[in-house]
Amino acid sequence: MSELAIPELCLVVLVGASGSGKSTFAARNFGRFETLSSDTFRGMVSNDENSQEASEAAFEALNFVAGKRLEAGLLTVIDATSVQTEARRQLVSLARAHDVLPVAIVLDVPLAVSLAHNALRTDRSLEPRVIKRQQDQLRRSARNLGREGFRRIHTLGSMAEVDAASIRREP
Ligand code: CTP
Ligand code: MG
Repeated sequence: MSELAIPELCLVVLVGASGSGKSTFAARNFGRFETLSSDTFRGMVSNDENSQEASEAAFEALNFVAGKRLEAGLLTVIDATSVQTEARRQLVSLARAHDVLPVAIVLDVPLAVSLAHNALRTDRSLEPRVIKRQQDQLRRSARNLGREGFRRIHTLGSMAEVDAASIRREP
């Protein structure tokens, strides 16, 4: 059982390919309103959680809500793949704008695990090459997270590590 220490008030950015288990991890470790999922926001602005066309509007809405929560002093978790540098850059600047620390939790599980989860899903199914690309982006990003401004970086390298991890909030 490993405890991931994070500040009581911070912006937690989950980083992981589709199927890596981000939403499952968030549901287990954070409160219902603490996690803002890009898919939920896609759904709210377009009626379709999987609509890539809705991404811009979805992230605009997600950023707005995250900002309100941080203003209110509430820890907030961003549940999106965040494997692209630009996506993370916007989240780091959101955290900075509200004077809270950006924290990354990286679900760097083997590609085969994400692919297997994806194949079993009934809610969504992506082409394997899309997941492979996300995993490649994650691998290339991993060593840059500190430079990007993340103040704590926790990397979980297997499904067993993801399942064994819990969060410790530090005052
Ligand atoms: N899953 C599983 N065992 C785990 C974690 C996840 O069987 N320990 C399954 C979930 O039940 C789900 C699928 O794998 O059907 C994907 O997990 P999810 O947490 O939804 O992955 P995300 O990373 O959130 O994927 P996405 O980016 O597409 O939202
Ligand atoms: Mg998810």
